[in-house]
Amino acid sequence: MTAITPHLWRHTTYNQFIDLTFNQYLIGTAHPMLIHTGSAPEAPSLLKALKGRKLSYIFVSHFESDECGALSAILNVYPSAKVVTGEVTARQITGFGIKADVITASDGEVLSLGDLELEMIAYPSEMHLWDGLLCYERKSKTFFSSDLMIRFGNSDVNQVTSDWKQEVEAIGVMQIADADRRRTLKERLLTLDVDLVAPGHGPILTV
Ligand SMILES: [Fe+2]
Ligand SMILES: [Fe+2]
Repeated sequence: MTAITPHLWRHTTYNQFIDLTFNQYLIGTAHPMLIHTGSAPEAPSLLKALKGRKLSYIFVSHFESDECGALSAILNVYPSAKVVTGEVTARQITGFGIKADVITASDGEVLSLGDLELEMIAYPSEMHLWDGLLCYERKSKTFFSSDLMIRFGNSDVNQVTSDWKQEVEAIGVMQIADADRRRTLKERLLTLDVDLVAPGHGPILTV
């Protein structure tokens, strides 16, 4: 794991065939949270990187292999970790027979992680505009953007300086196909005071 801030670590793998990195984050607090599990084949690498550290929660933005493919493998090692996700993904987890203690969250809910506070943001993600979640840690002003604000390339060690408003405005039809829901999310995101963007793919953004 690479330290990003005193409370944030990142684990990254790179797929050269699609020229894309896959990030998972550990928010280190009294109640540590893993943001995404990566896909199942990457589980041994992530578990090695976690080095047996405590894990209280696993956040899953939406039901896709790079966000939660290794969920079973991680829960085998961390059976008491609670999965925090949206309603649709919670249904998929049950439907695929994954045994998990799931906390279903929705927009505006805040989860206390000891000294940090994680705010949930509705995210019309992926196929069928399924309702996913994004999250924002209020004290460190860190936004976990999942599949938004991503960059291609092997950016394991790079941090990029960007502009929050520009990043929000760049969310396009390929990411959220429905114009109304795209506008609603953009308006919601512009209410946040963000210093750091931790995307699911590509470098950390300082904004
Ligand atoms: Fe995704
Ligand atoms: Fe992703």
